[in-house]
Amino acid sequence: MINANDASETARKLLETELPRRWAHTQGVARRARGLARVLAQEAELIEVAAWLHDIGYASSVASTGFHSLDGARYLRDVLMAPDLLCRLVAHHTGASVEAEERGMPSISKEFAAPPPELLDALTYCDMTTGVDGTPTDVDYRLAEILTRYPEDHIVYRSITRSAPILRHASRTVEARLAAMGGSHLAAQRCTASRPSAIPEASIAPRPPATARWPNSTQSKYGDDGRVR
Ligand SMILES: [Fe+2]
Repeated sequence: MINANDASETARKLLETELPRRWAHTQGVARRARGLARVLAQEAELIEVAAWLHDIGYASSVASTGFHSLDGARYLRDVLMAPDLLCRLVAHHTGASVEAEERGMPSISKEFAAPPPELLDALTYCDMTTGVDGTPTDVDYRLAEILTRYPEDHIVYRSITRSAPILRHASRTVEARLAAMGGSHLAAQRCTASRPSAIPEASIAPRPPATARWPNSTQSKYGDDGRVR
């Protein structure tokens, strides 16, 4: 298993110079992941490692298809020989399966099986509550900010619009779990600035109810292949 120090150094080498803003975001996502340690228990380091590596697919030396989730996962699998579950988390993070459909690449789930939902929710929460500059934000602000960067007919705009209910649900599920564990100060680290005008909440779909469904066991449920032990 790649540890968090190795993962941070790998991400730094790939992103810091070429994509400093992406590197700042990545560091913020990793900080979010460390803030989940109490609720993640044995999965904490896996999610921190995934947080460090989730956006390496944007680096020019990693990118091949232009779909950063898939490119990052393939790099982890083929170059770094990373564990299967880590590759699957990166491949599917933050609504990637919806983006794969929009890109006409639905076979991503055949190449990388979907990871356990509670782990994917954790990584998605970390990504969707961290702004482009690495500062804490909330999922609605983040969604709106992403949409301001793309025209309405862009693949990313369409993908984020379609996956917004899933991303909100994932984030609020984790926030509910944090609150239940007494870590609500992290969930409360929200941006208080005015939101971008393109807030999509009312126009997309009703918000699913947030429910805590985290594994409580202090022993990891999952092996490196993502199967329940
Ligand atoms: Fe990200």
